[in-house]
Amino acid sequence: MMNEKLQVIKIGGDIVDKPDLLHHFLNSFSKITHLKILVHGGGILLNDLAEKLSIPVKVIDGRRITDSETLDLALMTYSGLINTKIVAKLNSLKCQAVGLNGADGGVINAVKRPVREIDYGLVGDITDVNSEFLKILIGSGHTPVLCALSCDQSGQMLNTNADTIAAEIAIAMASEFDVQLTYVLDKPGVLSDLDNSNSIIRMLNMEQYKDLKKKQKISGGMLPKLHTGFYALQKSVSSVNITNIKNISGQSGTQLQSEGN
Ligand SMILES: Nc1ncnc2c1ncn2[C@@H]1O[C@H](COP(=O)(O)OP(=O)(O)OP(=O)(O)O)[C@@H](O)[C@H]1O
Ligand SMILES: [Mg+2]
Repeated sequence: MMNEKLQVIKIGGDIVDKPDLLHHFLNSFSKITHLKILVHGGGILLNDLAEKLSIPVKVIDGRRITDSETLDLALMTYSGLINTKIVAKLNSLKCQAVGLNGADGGVINAVKRPVREIDYGLVGDITDVNSEFLKILIGSGHTPVLCALSCDQSGQMLNTNADTIAAEIAIAMASEFDVQLTYVLDKPGVLSDLDNSNSIIRMLNMEQYKDLKKKQKISGGMLPKLHTGFYALQKSVSSVNITNIKNISGQSGTQLQSEGN
């Protein structure tokens, strides 16, 4: 028997930050009839707040360096402001949403990233996802909405890229569901020319990704998306696509291809 379909959708700061876009997205999201989980970023709002408070922002290859002040800002904006607003709006759209940060229900467990060439600070590398808890929620008709925070064994909250959280959730659920992972962003897909929104790469395999990365055609926040997206495909996630708000349930935009396809 075929596993039931579950779509894990990740939205970025560009959508979260614009009330019109967010409303449009949440409307479409609430109408999806198959099982679904939402993961959101919120980097732009965090940057704005950091600027207002004169706290410096540092990002390397799309990944944020997080000191304790920045972590507090992340808790306030991701878990407090953004997550709560999304959940409230979804519930008004008759989608029974439940807001979670990584500590809620022990859902996203992580360890602080060891310091190698770069010290990312209070950033978590995910060790495991409490998929049983997520299954209970979706099994009772709820839609989990997660922000980009994880928690370690000592109770220390850690900042974790939302793309990675989405991919790890997709992987953790793939043993029981037919999982589609969808990254929704401001661009219509992975572009071969960032200045030309018509240059969408429809199918992308690992070889092409490495080549484009070497040629610096792919950079910044697209790197963690593709890195974790290909990893998810290797780990039994059925499909991974990168698209914009207009196409959240379809297969348009860029479809990642696993090895040998
Ligand atoms: N080849 C490419 N095609 C499309 N976008 C690219 C490409 N290379 C780099 N990018 C950049 O990646 C960005 C998306 O990643 P970014 O981290 O900024 O957003 P996000 O992950 O959607 O949001 P958040 O980080 O808040 O969760 C695009 O806005 C674009 O500037
Ligand atoms: Mg990002």
